[in-house]
Amino acid sequence: MKNEPLAERTAPRRCDVAFTVDGRRVIAAAGETVAGAMLAAGERTFARRYGERRAPLCNMGTCFECAVTVDDAPLTRTCLTTVREGMDVRTDV
Ligand code: FES
Repeated sequence: MKNEPLAERTAPRRCDVAFTVDGRRVIAAAGETVAGAMLAAGERTFARRYGERRAPLCNMGTCFECAVTVDDAPLTRTCLTTVREGMDVRTDV
């Protein structure tokens, strides 16, 4: 299976909240985590650390593999952060 966004393979997504990931508009349902919304939008690399691509692993806040910069706050764990309208997410890719 190609790296196509999940949204293209599943039911239509609710669009309650819009935010940006590296300047690209992403939609999400209210209450969804940033990690969930990013994965659904097709994001597969959240950062590069130690020469490797990083993406969510534990989805419960312990591994920091999902950490990105959110509204200028570095190392924000996206699996623990709820989407907010207009938030600015920057990956470290
Ligand atoms: S996926 Fe492990 S801390 Fe977020």
